[in-house]
Amino acid sequence: MKVCIIYDSERGSTEKVARVMADAIGGRVEVKVLRATENPDIEDCSLVIVGAPIYYERPLPSVKNFILSKDGLKGKNVAVFILCIADKFGRLGKAYTERRYMRLIAEPIKGRIIARKVFDGWILKENPETLREAQEWIKRVLEAYERENVLEEIEHPGGGENEG
Ligand SMILES: Cc1cc2nc3c(=O)[nH]c(=O)nc-3n(C[C@H](O)[C@H](O)[C@H](O)COP(=O)(O)O)c2cc1C
Repeated sequence: MKVCIIYDSERGSTEKVARVMADAIGGRVEVKVLRATENPDIEDCSLVIVGAPIYYERPLPSVKNFILSKDGLKGKNVAVFILCIADKFGRLGKAYTERRYMRLIAEPIKGRIIARKVFDGWILKENPETLREAQEWIKRVLEAYERENVLEEIEHPGGGENEG
């Protein structure tokens, strides 16, 4: 069983999150971290984690292009994550990330989506809480996959509590 983490990143935070995730489960399963722009081979991956940052109100197009290039990841188990800042803006921000950003990245996916997660991104100063959440989330995703479960709820930073 192999896990592929496919991401793109402009300023490095999504890449960092992808690598932290790989480290968190690397002792248990074989993990490949690959950039969406490099036509990654996911043939032998039964669980595909797809991650994108949000720029100008949408996930980086390279990630959607990757999904489309693999026939929507048909036949795969897929977990999706995004990095953005809109989630910081209380209840409205949270609803917006679900309705717009998460929908845009999940839309082309034909595989079985087993988890969806919104992370707080950053621009200059690395967010250690995001990295901690990434480690915790990927372990739960792997566990869900192994038990053939689905994490139904879209998860948000800080455990999904509304602040506004
Ligand atoms: C030019 C620019 C545009 C951005 N646009 C959005 C946006 O529309 N919505 C949002 O929630 N976050 C937005 N962000 C925040 C990024 O999603 C966040 O900084 C993310 O962690 C960047 O990922 P990266 O470091 O992997 O490129 C923007 C950041 C920058 C620098």
